[in-house]
Amino acid sequence: MEYTQKNLANIQTSFSKDLKDLSHEQLKEKYLGKKGLVTEALKEIVNVSAKEKPMYGKEVNTLKAFVEEKLSEKVQQDREYTSKPKIDPTAPFDINEKPHLYNQMLSLKGSKHPLTKEMEKILRIFSSMGFDILESRQIDDDYHMFQSLNFPKGHPARDMYDTFRTEDGLVLPAHTSTMQNRALKKFGPPPIAVVLPGRCFRNEATDAGHEHTFHQIEGIYVDKNVSLSNMIATIKTFLERYLETDLKVKIQPAYFPFTEPDCEFVIGCPFCNMTGCSTCGHSGWIEIMGCGMIHPNVLKEAAIDSQMYSGFAWGFGVDRLAMIKLGIEDIRHLRESNLNFLQQF
Ligand code: DAH
Repeated sequence: MEYTQKNLANIQTSFSKDLKDLSHEQLKEKYLGKKGLVTEALKEIVNVSAKEKPMYGKEVNTLKAFVEEKLSEKVQQDREYTSKPKIDPTAPFDINEKPHLYNQMLSLKGSKHPLTKEMEKILRIFSSMGFDILESRQIDDDYHMFQSLNFPKGHPARDMYDTFRTEDGLVLPAHTSTMQNRALKKFGPPPIAVVLPGRCFRNEATDAGHEHTFHQIEGIYVDKNVSLSNMIATIKTFLERYLETDLKVKIQPAYFPFTEPDCEFVIGCPFCNMTGCSTCGHSGWIEIMGCGMIHPNVLKEAAIDSQMYSGFAWGFGVDRLAMIKLGIEDIRHLRESNLNFLQQF
């Protein structure tokens, strides 16, 4: 009896294994056929003692029922499987079955960041106006960031440009003016016309209008007899081309150690015709950039004769200008890499 019971357990184990590997027909033959394992086990009952017959009979019938049930489940599964479309596991996506998935992939292909696109448009305008382009640095030294721009050590105006420093005293530039001295030397002697795009950094408590990392474009123009009206005309021409509209402009006083006089360039709000809206803070005017006539000390530091030559310079935030043009209300969106935002441009 012990042997025969063990035999029933073995049959069940081997059937469970075969269920995965053999076809329905093979299983039927191996277990329920004329010489099948379950059939043989059923016949074995004649050799079991009268006392153990009921018990053995019950067990062998349970096994037979188990095998039959699993077999009919398998037939059902096989039918469902053959009625399903075949999957090609070598296809990169399920493109044969689901063309819409492929179309979705195509529409998701990458694109340039809106800031990059705006930066390219802006640089194209300056280039067409005759300006050279030189990229600014993302790490610089105290001399270029401050001293060469007429901020000696301890100058209180350094506080307006609070930024990050490395342990060995290098500076993450807080403005693209950090390139002025290099550009004046590189493109001198005058005439010099160059724009200096670059990434800038400030130690800011960030909010909708302030980021710790942003972009500026510096401009420098130096020649004989350059005047403030040349500066106003140049900046106005650029802004009208970029914003694609005529503008009312004015300058108002400001303070920078590296210009004399120092100005802020202001435009009449093109969105509300200066009647007041959220873009201009309901004032009708938008402050766009700092600018002015280059301070003689800055020219001298770059070995340019400030008696013979004069020039103007400006620096504006690309993020801010692009936000005005594209109607973006929070500067932080530009650095978040959120696809829902980026896909709108
Ligand atoms: N660097 C100044 C800033 O970020 C902006 C600026 C003002 C740049 C006057 C200039 C300039 O070139 O002449 O606040």
